Amino acid sequence: MNESEFFIVGANGQLGLALRAKYPNAQWADKDELDITNKQSVEQFDWSGIKVLLNAAAYTNVDGAETPEGRVAAWAVNADAVGNLVAVAAQNDMTLVHVSTDYVFDGTNDLHTEDEPFSPLSVYGASKAAGDLLVSLAPKFYIVRTSWVIGEGKNFVRTMISLAEKGINPTVVADQIGRLTFTTTLVDAISHLLTTTPSYGTYNVSNQGVPASWAEITREIFAIAGAANTVSDTTTAEYFAGKAGIAPRPLQSTLDLNKIESTGLHLRDWRDDLKDYISSSN
Ligand SMILES: NC(=O)c1ccc[n+]([C@@H]2O[C@H](COP(=O)([O-])OP(=O)(O)OC[C@H]3O[C@@H](n4cnc5c(N)ncnc54)[C@H](OP(=O)(O)O)[C@@H]3O)[C@@H](O)[C@H]2O)c1
Repeated sequence: MNESEFFIVGANGQLGLALRAKYPNAQWADKDELDITNKQSVEQFDWSGIKVLLNAAAYTNVDGAETPEGRVAAWAVNADAVGNLVAVAAQNDMTLVHVSTDYVFDGTNDLHTEDEPFSPLSVYGASKAAGDLLVSLAPKFYIVRTSWVIGEGKNFVRTMISLAEKGINPTVVADQIGRLTFTTTLVDAISHLLTTTPSYGTYNVSNQGVPASWAEITREIFAIAGAANTVSDTTTAEYFAGKAGIAPRPLQSTLDLNKIESTGLHLRDWRDDLKDYISSSN
């Protein structure tokens, strides 16, 4: 496929920036240029020549989505607006690539396959599940379900490195288990799907490797960065005790990667991508 026939919406987020780096000749728009919640703007946009519509737009403020305004915004961007994209994808014969989340599950299963029924705990998770259902109505679609995304901008790895630099020894939750997903790995998986064109549907994508808690990941970050800081374990319940407006989080976020790997994709261990990420951030 010719990347000049690709169009990225929500192009200024972590994933959007990674897609722009992967496909420098793709066309793109940020929220100011194309607000996907504006049905008329999406309908009237000139989609001629576009074969692949990559949706990197989302409302991702998990706790913000629990507020009265956030609830409305999360549903507008993650569900309603996705319906706008599904409609234009169908009308213009575009393949729609959409990104989902482990938050569509309650995290009671240790490992999430693509066909696990939705069981979202939070407003964000419910709005994303609604978006997935809409995308599944598109004639040509890939839903890439991912977890714990690390790319450009503010993220967990950068926060922990900055704590280390300030000499802070953080207390970190040790009962949420999953794998990081570096945006480089995520966009390589999207590219693999678009190049090898397996059956349309949902594909889990995260980095490979032994799943770990946020506390274990923090220890790995400090070890790679050569920081002597220590990490104390806590539980999610203790960490958020007394704090208002916190969205419930799934405790088990690990995604089963067999489906995408059976299409011939090798996913890198999260520890290897973490090393590269930290060394390239220095
Ligand atoms: N981050 C994670 O850990 C994680 C985990 C699992 C799945 N995901 C999924 O992965 C995808 C990419 O996430 P990300 O981390 O790249 O998110 P992100 O960094 O928050 O980027 C989302 C982008 O969408 C834009 N946007 C918001 N509303 C929009 C609208 N109405 N029209 C057009 N653009 C709009 C945002 O612009 P503004 O910033 O200007 O609002 C932002 O640039 C999302 O579908 C997310 O649900 C993320």
